[in-house]
Amino acid sequence: MTTSSAPGKVYLFGEHAVVYGEPAVPCAIERRARVTVERREDERLRVRANDLTLDGFTVTWGGETDTRPDVDVPAPLVEAATGYIDGAIAQALDAAGEPAAGFDVTVESDIPLGAGLGSSAAVVVAGIDAATRELGAELSSEELADRAYQVEYDVQDGQASRADTFCSAMGGAVRVQGEDCRRLGEVPTLPFVVGYDGNTGDTGELVAGVRELKHTYGFAADAVESIGDLVRAGEAALRDGDVEELGRLMDFNHGLLSALGVSARSLDTMVWAAREADALGAKLTGAGGGGCIVALDRTEQTHTALEYTPGCTDAFRAELDTEGVRVE
Ligand code: MEV
Repeated sequence: MTTSSAPGKVYLFGEHAVVYGEPAVPCAIERRARVTVERREDERLRVRANDLTLDGFTVTWGGETDTRPDVDVPAPLVEAATGYIDGAIAQALDAAGEPAAGFDVTVESDIPLGAGLGSSAAVVVAGIDAATRELGAELSSEELADRAYQVEYDVQDGQASRADTFCSAMGGAVRVQGEDCRRLGEVPTLPFVVGYDGNTGDTGELVAGVRELKHTYGFAADAVESIGDLVRAGEAALRDGDVEELGRLMDFNHGLLSALGVSARSLDTMVWAAREADALGAKLTGAGGGGCIVALDRTEQTHTALEYTPGCTDAFRAELDTEGVRVE
């Protein structure tokens, strides 16, 4: 039996624009998905997901915890994979050069699903790592990130950047631009606070909405390019350790994302609550439409203010997690 875990992430800057080749800076946070994989005698895949439900073979968010059905699917899965879990298992089989094998898989995650915190990427990264090890092989973090990206790409019909999967595999703060992914060196302490509205945005729909806007209006395309410029300015601020400038740029980034139509009233309310509580900056994180905001909290005030903000169902501190995927 092998258990691996991988972290979720927040976008310091650059979501959506990264889909069009602009750079983005996601940061891993200390909230993890844990996947336990045990080889079976037969060639079946049985998945148990605590705190998650399974829609077909795709993990989706659910409320109850007791009524999850286990799912049996026949292996081999390489051709048949349509979801995050079977996709991860298929990648592990391929990496280990095994034509078929069966597994019991248990997923536990403390990352809200579909909320902009990279939960599916964390499950896929941890799943590939655990299953590959269970088969007696081991992958570099780079290959793991690459294989996890293939799974996200397939499940999300090509609407995925490498940001979530690379960040989850490597940990820390990373820079992603197209296929060029690297970990950033020294970064200042980033006192993240996350506010969650309990909702999920539909990433595919939101990405398609931005594409349409960009196609219709030249100035929407300019907004996407401006996010790229802002990310480059943010990288300089990270190098200089200028946390106040990072906050200002986060505010600017939120404004541009709002202009692109991907914010929501609940997200704007949390962003303004954070700003009024003296956060250095605040923005939505991820695809938007609902889900999470991230703020830089210089005092405890932002955290407390978010806890009392109508529509905020959860607020938590989220330290940068310098460790990516790991065996538990
Ligand atoms: C979703 O978490 C972030 C987007 O930029 C899409 C992606 O990068 O795959 C909207």
